[in-house]
Amino acid sequence: MLDVARGTLNVRPPMAHPLEDLRTSAVAVIATATDEHALETLRVRYLGKSGSISAWGERMRTLSNEERPAVGKLLNEARSAVTLAIECAAAAFRSRGETASLANIDVSLPGTPAEIGALHPLTQMLDRTIAIFRRMGFALAEGPDIETEWYCFDALNTAPDHPARNEQDTFYLPDGRLLRTHTSTVQIRTMQSAPPPIRVIAPGAAYRRDEVDATHSAQFHQIEGLYVDQEVSVGDLKGTLEFFFRELLGAQTEIRFRPHFFPFTEPSFEVDVKSRALKGGEKWLELCGCGMVHPAVFEEVNGARGDDAYDPEKYSGFAFGVGMDRLAMILFDIPDIRLFAQNDLRFLRQFA
Ligand code: PHE
Repeated sequence: MLDVARGTLNVRPPMAHPLEDLRTSAVAVIATATDEHALETLRVRYLGKSGSISAWGERMRTLSNEERPAVGKLLNEARSAVTLAIECAAAAFRSRGETASLANIDVSLPGTPAEIGALHPLTQMLDRTIAIFRRMGFALAEGPDIETEWYCFDALNTAPDHPARNEQDTFYLPDGRLLRTHTSTVQIRTMQSAPPPIRVIAPGAAYRRDEVDATHSAQFHQIEGLYVDQEVSVGDLKGTLEFFFRELLGAQTEIRFRPHFFPFTEPSFEVDVKSRALKGGEKWLELCGCGMVHPAVFEEVNGARGDDAYDPEKYSGFAFGVGMDRLAMILFDIPDIRLFAQNDLRFLRQFA
């Protein structure tokens, strides 16, 4: 060391404080530890409650005020250095352990491919249907599967003695509620919650106590449509459904409206469709029930709303219900409605 003040070369190294010696030797010893167990023994020897570095902490109290700051600094440095050395050694052991456990893995082997899922054919059918109606400006609406008799029947102008309300035809809950027999319930819920104009579709499940066979299931799916505004006509209804079926089944699709009866529409129709694009393309297939909203339905809604928002003198509307299962069976050439619910992957994979 060059002692500038005296202009001489001081060749004697300054005496190291015992704490510095302790620090140097501890770090050296820790570096020789061969496993985690040995490392823990060393940690206790230096940093444990009666370890040698901790002992210096005790000794601090006996030092004079002049000595204490310098020794305190050395003690802190020693403690940090030893702690760091132990942590580094521990990390090295850990990563060595990980490397060893990976040693027998051949990363060049081919992996197990993750199976990619696909949409259920009914979901695909719904998505296509919804996309077409959205392009015509229909918004999505929904309602619960468990309903009151009022939403399912009374509000839809369906008299108490109507056969659809029979216990043989409908699933009733002990409290008198029921599983909705059609999605027309959402017509009422939508009109109750918003004034006209209304233009919605409501996809969902419906339930009937049918004898289950290849074309009947206790649970099936419908898309309900409702359009209420001033001067809505049967022509609008026809045009809307023709556009829908031609978009879905092809431009050459023929559509036929047959007079029918529903309590909640007047006039009412059933819609038959014939398309050469479909298997058995020469046959008329009944796909949809529809009609102009019955004034009595508007009156029921006004009663529940407590206003005259749906004044039948001012507003008219059309409604329709399309069976999704039947449509999917026709479109995808599926022979049995029960296949939709059986979860047989051999069936489902054909639509992936
Ligand atoms: N809810 C009727 C059914 O399930 C279909 C329908 C809906 C008819 C809307 C007219 C208007 O058969």
